[in-house]
Formats: sequence, structure tokens, C-alpha cells
Amino acid sequence: MATAQSSKESLREVERGAIAVLDFGGQYSHLICRRIRAMGVYAVLLPFSTTSDALKERRFAGIILSGGPASVYARDSPKADPKIFDGRTPVLGICYGYQLLVRHFGGDVRRTQRREYGKATLVIRAKGGIFEGIAEDRITCWMSHTDSATTLPAGLEVLAETENSNYAAVQSLDGTKFGVQFHPEVVQTEHGMKILENFVLRVCNASKTWSMRDFAGKTVNELASSIDGRVICAVSGGVDSSTAAVLLNRAVGKRLCCVFVDHGLLREGEADEVRTMFRDELGIALSFVDASERFLNELRGVSDPEEKRKVIGRTFAGVFEEFAKENGPFGFLAQGTLYPDVIESGRSTGPAAVIKTHHNVGGLPESFALRVVEPLKWLYKDEVRELALMIGVPEKMVRRHPFPGPGLAVRILGEVTPEKLRVCRSANRIVEEVTNKHGIYGGVWQAFAYVGDDLVTGVLGDERKVGFQVTVKVVDSLDAMTASWHRMPDEVLEEISTRMTNEVEGVVSVAYSISSKPPATIEPQ
Ligand code: XMP
Repeated sequence: MATAQSSKESLREVERGAIAVLDFGGQYSHLICRRIRAMGVYAVLLPFSTTSDALKERRFAGIILSGGPASVYARDSPKADPKIFDGRTPVLGICYGYQLLVRHFGGDVRRTQRREYGKATLVIRAKGGIFEGIAEDRITCWMSHTDSATTLPAGLEVLAETENSNYAAVQSLDGTKFGVQFHPEVVQTEHGMKILENFVLRVCNASKTWSMRDFAGKTVNELASSIDGRVICAVSGGVDSSTAAVLLNRAVGKRLCCVFVDHGLLREGEADEVRTMFRDELGIALSFVDASERFLNELRGVSDPEEKRKVIGRTFAGVFEEFAKENGPFGFLAQGTLYPDVIESGRSTGPAAVIKTHHNVGGLPESFALRVVEPLKWLYKDEVRELALMIGVPEKMVRRHPFPGPGLAVRILGEVTPEKLRVCRSANRIVEEVTNKHGIYGGVWQAFAYVGDDLVTGVLGDERKVGFQVTVKVVDSLDAMTASWHRMPDEVLEEISTRMTNEVEGVVSVAYSISSKPPATIEPQ
């Protein structure tokens, strides 16, 4: 499994003058990258263990150390290469990263009684540096820490404080190292973006070379120069794989063969919609493989969620390999894998745990005969949507909610049976229809329904009837790394519930999920 070498080289190009964010496992690490990219500067999340020499070689303009759940004084907590603090490249430590900086220069960090969670008032004592251009002396900032710096070393000076943190923001005497105990990357911190901008643009003088248009152009060129054979692109009709297909179509033209596999776990009408979009709107030829029976057979008797994902991933890989043999030769397999898929599948070497094996990453066997091309693997979902609109993917497709590769299989708890599949499919259609009708669909991250095996008792007419309970889930999110449950108007929930029990044979009860991510994930499995 290897991506073309030249793609690596041109990424190095993008990284010159960019910002490296070292990931100490904080929940906002991604957000730091996204905020910086929004300034037009490329930012990449790297493992906390990335050495100073490696960073220097890649010519980053600045380094940010993220927050993280550990305590800097714990023996096996993640540590940064000490040379990072002694080099000339500017460093900004945030929360845990800030505490590492303080310890490195000889200060003390301890667990104190004065922990802070949530909003705090930051009193700015020294304007300039990262606080340049902020007129107010007091701003609201977002805190989330138990440990605090209790003494400050001689080489650092205080820039700001809060009631519980005497050293809420610090700066080295030479003006190249900064530390903030609060989180400038979250919207709750007033002028947070300005603080980051001051570091990135003023202190680091980072290059403003990141734009989606550049990314599109560079990616097409890279794909054109690195792909020397025919490519199979697995498309699902979702924004990710459609965008990957359009980029590849531009890069290799007729050498691209897009394949749509109907795994029998799609939403209602989905297969037809995808065929029509590719033919009429994108003008890209599509090979259609109906493998629904094969998938459903493979899934028979499988109820463990990870096992289901693996079976689906394996079956996908098998279908592609066979297609490649019959219609080949092909040298490459393209996928619309995104950055969060890579991170959550544990492929990044940061301390993020494996949450779920997303089928397009984890399901491929080691011996897979095709080389994998993933042109979107550096992008977040909202960035892909921006790119998609720019390169002509129809708005309707772009606005469509994410739908997992394993399809309804992850919205069916336990074994995938034809009956649960029928219920789940109809229930998902109803959620989409009702949320669309009430103008909710476009404003939320995902709105869907899932079903399990537990039967509940209902009354229909004068009779007792046991049937399915369907759970409706609607979540708000920025990038699927975290999500919060959406406060739905009562009348919309009521309409969904009534329609489901009236229209979907076998459903007697409807529930609404009030779980956020974490602790739950977005899809129930
Ligand atoms: P979770 O459920 O992990 O999902 O919070 C995060 C986002 O990813 C989507 N998802 C998947 N997408 N293959 C995909 O292409 C998968 O296996 C997969 N599992 C979840 C999910 O819908 C949500 O938007």
C-alpha cells in the first residue's frame, strides 16, 4: 500500500513556511490546524515525537504544541524533543504544550486546587507579541486544565493572567517562544483567532500559500505525473469519492475507471441517483457492480460491529480486485479517504486511539495488489466541500450528509437481516424527508435513524403488538471529530415518530438519541 512518491515531495513543498502542530492527544488538536488553514497558511498535525531535526528539514515556519490529557510531570507522559525549545523556530505551547515549555525552561508545573474549566477572564498585562492589536485589557478565554505552572523560570515573562492562573500567557525574552494556558483555537476565547494569527503571521512569518484553488491545481498535476497506469476509483456518490473522481478525471482522463458497488446497504433510491449524477452532471463514465447479494451473504450471522466493518472492507477489496482482473490491467485504486478517517483509524502515529476501523482504510488486505491513491487524505470535510463546489460537483451532492462506507450496516445493531434493513432504510428516508421539510437538514451535520434487535411492546388497534424501536439521531459537528446532539423542535420529532410508526411496518416505538461525541460516536456502530 503506497502512495506515489512525487505526492510526498510536493507535500514537502506545501510544508515549507507552514506550521507544524505536534499532537499531544488534546481534543482540540485538529481545530488548531483548521484555524490556521483558514488563515491561508498550511498546517499539519504531526506526532508529538517528531524530532526537531525532522521539523527543520521540512522547513516549517513555526511549531505549535497542542494540549493533551496527560500530566507533564508523569514519567511516561508524551514529551517533545527538547531541541525544539532551544532552536530558532518559533514555538507556541497551548495548555499541556505550554506546561512542557515552562518545565523545559526550569519552571514548575503542579496539580493545584485552582483548576479551571470553562470561561475565565484573561487580564492582559503586556500588549504586543501574540496580543498585538487587541485593544481590550480583559478578554474572555477558555480554560480546561487541572495542572498549573506554579513558578516561572527566569527566561520567561508573564503576558497575561486569570484569577486562578498567575501565568496564563508567557513569552521568552527573545520573543520566539510563547505559551498559553488557555485555548485560543476555540470560539469561546475572544480574539482567539487574532492571537493565533499574531503567532502564525507576525511571529513566524508563515507563508500564506494555502488555498483550495492551489490545492486543486497541485493535486491534479501530482496525480497526472505520478499515475502511470489505469486507475480504479471506488465511488459511493458521497462528496469525498465524487471529488476524488473529478480530480482524477482531470488528471488522467480516459485512464480513469469509476466503479460504483451496490453493497445492498444503501439508502432508498441512492444507486439511481449516483448513476444519474455521474452520467448527466459530471460526465464521467461509471461501471456499476451489483454485489448486494454477496455482501448480505457475507454478513449473515455477523453481529459484532468491528467484525461487520471488517467483513464489508474485505468484501469491497475482493470485489475490486476481481473487477480489476476482469477489466484491467489497473495499477491504482483511488479512494476518497479524508484526514479524520486516517487519524481515527490509528494510522497517524499520534496518541489518538483507534476508534473505529473505517472501511476504506482498515479493510484492505496487506497483499492488496493495487497501489492506493488518496488525494484528499490531508483535508477535513468542510475543506472537501469547498473544493467539491469549486470543481463542479453538484451542490445537492455536496450538501448531502456524510454517509458511512459500510452504509446501513452500521445503523443496524446486531446482525444485518432483510427485515431490519427494510426498517432502517425506510426510517432513514423519513428522517431525511421530515428534516428537509422543516429546513433542519441543511443546518446539521447528520440526521439519520438506526435500529436494533430489542423488541418493545405496543398496542395497535386493540391488540398488543411487539415490534422494533427505531432511534433517531441528529447531530451538529464541525468535522466529525466531536459532535453534539441537536435540540430538535418537539413538533418535528413528533412528525418523524408518527410517520415511522404509521408507514414502516413493524415499528411500534421511536426514540431520540441525546448522546454527544464523546462519549458516543456519531454512527451507533
Ligand atoms: P463516527 O461514527 O466514528 O463517524 O463518529 C464519524 C464520521 O464518519 C462517518 N463514518 C464513516 N465514513 N466509512 C466512512 O467513509 C466508515 O466506515 C465510517 N464510519 C463512520 C460517520 O457517518 C460520521 O460522519
